[in-house]
Amino acid sequence: MKTRDSKSGPAPAAGGRRKFLNRLWLVLGGLLAAECAWLGGRIFRQRGQATGKRRKLIAAGRVGTFEVASVTAIGPGGFFLARLRDGAFLAMSRTCPHLGCSVTWEEKQNRFVCPCHGSVFNRRGEVESGPAPRPLDTYPLRLEDGVVKVEISSSRRREEFVPGQAVRPPGPAERQR
Ligand code: FES
Repeated sequence: MKTRDSKSGPAPAAGGRRKFLNRLWLVLGGLLAAECAWLGGRIFRQRGQATGKRRKLIAAGRVGTFEVASVTAIGPGGFFLARLRDGAFLAMSRTCPHLGCSVTWEEKQNRFVCPCHGSVFNRRGEVESGPAPRPLDTYPLRLEDGVVKVEISSSRRREEFVPGQAVRPPGPAERQR
């Protein structure tokens, strides 16, 4: 009959138990890591929603494709892109600030018109006749590599038009810098 002494290593049952415990720790560690990743992603998403940092940027088109003194309805984001007489761009919401109907651009009248209660706005979105109490909201806009990009995730309420709301493409001197 064989006997085991202390120098011959652990008994087979002890080795099996150690392997089992090692695997158990691996599984628990993996579950913990997955849980942390899920929680982290959830917190990140909630924080982004709470602070409005989820940005939606629409590439409306190349600068040169928009004529000066024109208004273009941009489908994907549901907004109007006006190019003013000085060449600057202004992105505006389609939502009437009276009760929220969608305004339309009437090319022949050179005006935005709300079909619900008849408010009229000029090319810059300013009220020409009510009942709308204020101009059409704007969206942040930037020109990058000759492309007009509009951030439609956050509209800006305004009480009047000021030139800083519109973005001008760089002139020849600025382009050479
Ligand atoms: S909702 Fe536009 S005028 Fe009333």
